Amino acid sequence: METHTDLIELLQHARHVAVLTGAGVSAESGIPTFRDAQTGMWAQFDPEELASPAGFRRNPRLIWEWYAWRRELVAKAEPNPGHLALAELERRVPRLTLITQNVDGLHQRAGSAAPIELHGNIGRVTCSAEGVVIEQWDEAGDELPPRCPRCGAHLRPDVVWFGELLPEEAMAAAWDAARSCDLFLSIGTSGLVEPAASLPRVALQSGATVVVINLDVTTAARPPLYTINARSGELLPKLLRAAWPT
Ligand code: APR
Repeated sequence: METHTDLIELLQHARHVAVLTGAGVSAESGIPTFRDAQTGMWAQFDPEELASPAGFRRNPRLIWEWYAWRRELVAKAEPNPGHLALAELERRVPRLTLITQNVDGLHQRAGSAAPIELHGNIGRVTCSAEGVVIEQWDEAGDELPPRCPRCGAHLRPDVVWFGELLPEEAMAAAWDAARSCDLFLSIGTSGLVEPAASLPRVALQSGATVVVINLDVTTAARPPLYTINARSGELLPKLLRAAWPT
């Protein structure tokens, strides 16, 4: 781990670590990312078609079934060593804010206490008219999507679609963390989708050291910005072991 001595020191002395994760962190759990050419989900789907209010209005059944398929995938997936390392990091540093764009809930299953879910959670369902989370609904009939037991509108996954606003509270907490942290880790995200993509820049501008861990970057150290080309499931456990050998 000598190549990452700076990073190990930064972790050991960090006061407040903010972490932003994207689909790359769940890739080693077997969940396809969005934009990776060979495995990316979008390779065979058009995001606008599947993950947008227009797509849902056009074909609610298709969208409900696509998310049901993804829920299946997630249910079969296990948190990988990268998720587990982030849950351990939370216990090792004085303060950690985990911000995720992922909707698979694997951070929670790995033991992370309260990830900020910028894009919602595929495990939750809301009423498409009232926006409230619906815990129970009748799926007896073969009509899909099911209907809201309160008002009869179609149910939908509790995720943020293209063109929709992110949950205000979640976004405010994420901005705060980016501004107040001293170490910001951006892991497994292509950094293409706003407003999440601006968080590392805000952290940098606020004086934090930013470390980008991704597969489509070149490893380089230009403090306060570090980029590391590595798989999160491989690198994160190694960094934790090196920083806290006990
Ligand atoms: N370790 C680290 N990085 C990885 C790994 C891995 N094992 N596998 C893939 N990656 C990297 C890819 O190189 C890519 O840069 O993870 C990134 C995944 O990028 P995207 O597929 O664009 O996913 P993400 O950045 O999370 O997308 C953001 O866009 O489609 C919307 O709402 C969706 O939350 C998603 C948002």
